[in-house]
Amino acid sequence: MSADKSAEKSLLVPHESLALYVHWPWCLSKCPYCDFNSRALAPADSDQKAYREAILRELNHYAEQTKGRPLGSLFFGGGTPSLMSPDTVQAIIEAAHDHWDFQNGCEITIEANPTSIEAAKFRAFREAGVNRVSVGVQALNDTDLQALGREHSVDEALRALDIASAIFERFTFDLIYARPGQGQGDWADELERALALAGDHLSLYQLTIEPGTAFFRQNVEEVDQDLGADLYEITQELCEEAGLPAYEVSNHARVGQESRHNMTYWQGGDYIGIGPGAHGRLSTSGTTRATHQMADPAKWSAAVARDGHATAKVRELRPRERLEELVLSGMRLTDGIDARRFARQCGQELIQVLNTDALFDLQTAQLIDFDGQRLAATAAGRLMLNTLITQLLDEPQAPSKPD
Ligand SMILES: C[S@@+](CC[C@H](N)C(=O)[O-])C[C@H]1O[C@@H](n2cnc3c(N)ncnc32)[C@H](O)[C@@H]1O
Ligand code: SF4
Repeated sequence: MSADKSAEKSLLVPHESLALYVHWPWCLSKCPYCDFNSRALAPADSDQKAYREAILRELNHYAEQTKGRPLGSLFFGGGTPSLMSPDTVQAIIEAAHDHWDFQNGCEITIEANPTSIEAAKFRAFREAGVNRVSVGVQALNDTDLQALGREHSVDEALRALDIASAIFERFTFDLIYARPGQGQGDWADELERALALAGDHLSLYQLTIEPGTAFFRQNVEEVDQDLGADLYEITQELCEEAGLPAYEVSNHARVGQESRHNMTYWQGGDYIGIGPGAHGRLSTSGTTRATHQMADPAKWSAAVARDGHATAKVRELRPRERLEELVLSGMRLTDGIDARRFARQCGQELIQVLNTDALFDLQTAQLIDFDGQRLAATAAGRLMLNTLITQLLDEPQAPSKPD
């Protein structure tokens, strides 16, 4: 049997676990840096019953296509899903139970904003079946929280973290750093305070200015590359000292406390995405399909009422596209890409798809490690990850034809 044929045979089997993402597209207000599919809450949009019915129908649609596979995680993201009623959350979890077997330790996370109204619902979310909460703290000083357009104060955030840690065995929170005017000392102090409050997981994102956001229109600038790299290094150092090393570019955890759901994305596993604008990846017999739900909540709910789902696009990924996606996401992980998993997922050997000259040069420069089984960026390499990936995926030029 040829190498290609044997790799093809080992492509994803239908019993591999699935992740389920449920998108809630509304917030109390729109933050000026945010380009997620979210909008300020309009009364008509907040109709929980209509949303619940539509989500349950869309869930049904995708459950039909994925029967027999175990569910490894469920993630309520947004938007601000902590604005959902606990009844809606419970109905979705129960429906998921009806459709799939839950894997041992199935992780069920909800993203929550730390306003007092939402924190008051944490216990009800727990009773509905949620076992992990991710709180969007973003900053630990009130001036910056206001500049970020947040609806909560530092006091409210601290209170929400207190409640989260009392109710949930697993909780995490997000901070945005490299904010306008934030120097190295400011960030180091803030991060020390955050680490003292942290459980077993912390997400730390450098502020990016995305086209279409209010910050972009106001010409707010990202910090320059050198300061960005210094802030990133401070982050790695302090988190490592505190026992929360990075397992992904922006995510830190004690060993074993990584987000199972997000690991599915980064390791190229399958996930169903339902709700307005949600994306999914589903593999069957050697191909991976990308799914994309309609982004506009009104159009989404009308399509679900009509067709039972609001899938705007289903597209089979081209082999090159699939392998590039696996390299791009896998290289974000500290552990990098497992060559055997890669071959199983895309039917090609990792070594055969990489530019071997770049591989050699980057290894010599100690920017990547590759032992045949695992490809990962070194600490120095992670500072220039995009460049590394571009070089590793650079296809060798075909020899030019003689005239
Ligand atoms: C889906 S978002 C929001 C979750 C929740 N609605 C909140 O605001 O707390 C997940 C996280 O992405 C991060 N984020 C969003 N936009 C960002 C940006 N432009 N730059 C850096 N981080 C960003 C924030 O830390 C945010 O908590
Ligand atoms: S950052 Fe969170 S709360 Fe703010 S607009 Fe985006 S999704 Fe909504």
